[in-house]
Amino acid sequence: MKTVLITGGATGLGKELAKLYAQNDYQVILVGRNLDSLKQTKEELGAKIVHAVSIDIQNYEEVTKKMQELLTVYSVDILINNAGVGHFGPLSDYSKKMIDDVIDTNVKGTIYMTQACISHLQTRPQGKIINIISTAGLRGKKNESIYVASKFAMRGFTESLKVEYQETNLSIIAAYMGGMDTPFWSQNNHIKDKSRLTPPLHIAQVIYDKQNEKEDIIL
Ligand SMILES: NC(=O)c1ccc[n+]([C@@H]2O[C@H](COP(=O)([O-])OP(=O)(O)OC[C@H]3O[C@@H](n4cnc5c(N)ncnc54)[C@H](OP(=O)(O)O)[C@@H]3O)[C@@H](O)[C@H]2O)c1
Repeated sequence: MKTVLITGGATGLGKELAKLYAQNDYQVILVGRNLDSLKQTKEELGAKIVHAVSIDIQNYEEVTKKMQELLTVYSVDILINNAGVGHFGPLSDYSKKMIDDVIDTNVKGTIYMTQACISHLQTRPQGKIINIISTAGLRGKKNESIYVASKFAMRGFTESLKVEYQETNLSIIAAYMGGMDTPFWSQNNHIKDKSRLTPPLHIAQVIYDKQNEKEDIIL
């Protein structure tokens, strides 16, 4: 049985991905900060093959320590860096806390998790990293400057790792998607008409189906 670790796996896109992998006989490890919501998703998806681990991916020491412990127990085949946050608005309106939250989660959190897993993933026969970026990693957008900056950074990180690990059996891909109907938008008023957002299950299905292709996934 293969194992997938999904950050931000308790909600939104991460939860839909977790559901699909669990349905397809993968062992799933859900990572997030809110243990109650992780446990609830674990129960919903099937407590036997789904495990929940509380890690704040912004915290380097916590990521390093907990991932070291976890990787002695589980052999992880796929890391999905999905956890992310967004704050939106004109640049002058951001507090330092909001800027740090976006950069520390989306950029540093992805780097910390990847660094903690990459040697282990290289030992797996079909090790894989899937980075959930966004169309915000492809072009600039009004009132999204910090979020877009974080997603461009994720893209640069992903593209560099692809070159760095191209001679290995480790596969590294990115997924770029537009707006999805998830709890992501309940923290802000950035999107007025939520009816045009795509259900996350649809995006999760495409990512699952295309995970073994070499090209990035753009939806
Ligand atoms: N929704 C969209 O329109 C959209 C479009 C394109 C791309 N994306 C990207 O898709 C990914 C998933 O987002 P979503 O839409 O599914 O939103 P979501 O439901 O809000 O999911 C984000 C997840 O990230 C986790 N998370 C946040 N900070 C964390 C931290 N410091 N440590 C560990 N986990 C953390 C959250 O769990 P806890 O709060 O429990 O930690 C949550 O489960 C994000 O990277 C987002 O940027 C979203």
